Amino acid sequence: IGQKIEYVESCPSTQIIAHQLAQEGAPDGTVVLTETQTAGRGRLARKWDSAAQKGVWMSIILRPDVVPQKAPQFTLVTAVAVVRAIEEVTRLQPKIKWPNDILLNGKKCTGILTELQSDADGIQALIIGIGLNVNQEKKDFDPEVQEIATSLKLESGETVSRQKLVQSLLYYMEIYTQLYIEEGFGMLKILWESYSTTIGQPVRARMTNQTLEGIAEGITDDGVLQLRTADGKLHGIYSADIEMTN
Ligand code: BTN
Repeated sequence: IGQKIEYVESCPSTQIIAHQLAQEGAPDGTVVLTETQTAGRGRLARKWDSAAQKGVWMSIILRPDVVPQKAPQFTLVTAVAVVRAIEEVTRLQPKIKWPNDILLNGKKCTGILTELQSDADGIQALIIGIGLNVNQEKKDFDPEVQEIATSLKLESGETVSRQKLVQSLLYYMEIYTQLYIEEGFGMLKILWESYSTTIGQPVRARMTNQTLEGIAEGITDDGVLQLRTADGKLHGIYSADIEMTN
C-alpha cells in the first residue's frame, strides 16, 4: 500500500480521484492524498469538513479477491489501523464507535468511508476514504460540528506531524489488510472489540426505517453489529447511526 501515491494540492474529494484512477486500472494499494477538499464527502451523503493543511485526507484503492461481500470488514480493519497509527504518533487513546468513527474523549476525530466500484469489465475495487482531523483548532470546524468533532491537536495540546501519521497509517493498513486477507477476521475482530466503545453498552441504533434500542453485544465475523433488545431478541445491524444511551 502506498507504492504509488497520487498527491494533489487541492481537489473536490480524494474519493472522486480514486474512483477515476481505479476505473483506469490503478493497481492495488494506490493512494490519493490531498491538502484540502472542497467537496469532501462522508457517510450517508453527508459532507466532510476538510480544512486546508490541517488533516490527513486520503483514499486507498484496494483490489482484494473478495471485494463486495467483504467491504464492511475492510472498514473495520481500517479503523484498527487508524487507531494504531494515532497511538504510535501521539499519546492519545482513541476508541472506535461502530462501524467506523474514531473517537477521542467521546468526540469524532476520524471518519472512514468505504465505497465499491466496478468498471466496464466487472473488475471491482474498494475505495477506502480516511479523514483524520489532525491540527484543527475549534474554529476550523463548521459550527454545526464544533461540539461533536475534535482533532489530535485539540485533545493532545500539541501540533502533530501529518507526515508521521500518513507513514504510520500506511504501514498499519498494509499489515492489517494482509493479516485479514491471509488469516481472516478473527484476530482483527478481537483487536477491534478491544478498542470499541460500543460493545457491552446500551445504544440506540437509528436506521432508515426504524430505530432500535438495546445492548450492543458484539460484532459477527461479517462485521454486523449484534443488538439485543429488551424483549430478548438479537438483531443484526448492517448500517445505522449509533448513539450511546447511558
Ligand atoms: C464519515 O462520514 O465519517 C466518513 C468521512 C470520510 C472522509 C474522507 S476524507 C478523504 C476521503 N475523501 C472524501 O471525500 N471522503 C473521505
